Amino acid sequence: MKCYVMTLFPEMVEEIVKTSILGRASQKEIIRVKAVNIRDYSADLKHHKVDDYTYGGGAGMLMQAQPVYDCYRAIAEEMTTENGGVTPEHRVIYLSPQGRVFTQEGAVELAKSEYLVLLCGHYEGIDERVIEEIVTDEVSIGDYVLTGGELPAMVMIDAIARFVPGVLHNEESALGESLAGNLLEYPQYSRPEVWRGKAVPEILLSGDHAKVDAWRKERAIERTRTKRPDLYARYLVENGLKE
Ligand code: ADE
Repeated sequence: MKCYVMTLFPEMVEEIVKTSILGRASQKEIIRVKAVNIRDYSADLKHHKVDDYTYGGGAGMLMQAQPVYDCYRAIAEEMTTENGGVTPEHRVIYLSPQGRVFTQEGAVELAKSEYLVLLCGHYEGIDERVIEEIVTDEVSIGDYVLTGGELPAMVMIDAIARFVPGVLHNEESALGESLAGNLLEYPQYSRPEVWRGKAVPEILLSGDHAKVDAWRKERAIERTRTKRPDLYARYLVENGLKE
């Protein structure tokens, strides 16, 4: 998978991509994340300006259409060259609090993409005309407003990358964990057996795998019911336990 991140702050993206599991996946080239600086496409060769006042007045500056569009065209051209002259299918995702809220299912779906382009806004947003021209999906990471799209873009890339084959090792598997099948993960324990007077549940020391599995499932269901009643309701419906 190759992700292009259109941004005014490429160093924010590059720093995160170098680190931990994303860093390992990038080194192995299982995922490739390229931050492309929108400012490099400014028509203002002197000051590299990319923003201006909004028509109709109002506070704040807006990112202009031209540098965003030219940045996207350069990315499209690169993808086309990489694919022997054919532009590959790709989504252009604009990170915005107005978008559809990103979920684990969304991550699974997008992990099937060979190419993704993520557009990060700043200031008061981006000229609507370029959004209409290039964006295929508008995505939010939650109902709160951030100062820019870079952190949301990296949240998405992190969540998506976990479902790209080879990114996680077997022991880090993205299946059977929190949110798989609408259940939260069961509680887990490591050494020592007793810590501050709290003992590890007996059953986990029993060596009886069937019993351990049953206990874990039970705890996962109970946890979901109390911590996330919304998820629990979905779990019941999807497993035919409730209409
Ligand atoms: N940009 C600013 N806030 C955002 C959010 N919640 N999700 C995605 N992009 C954003």
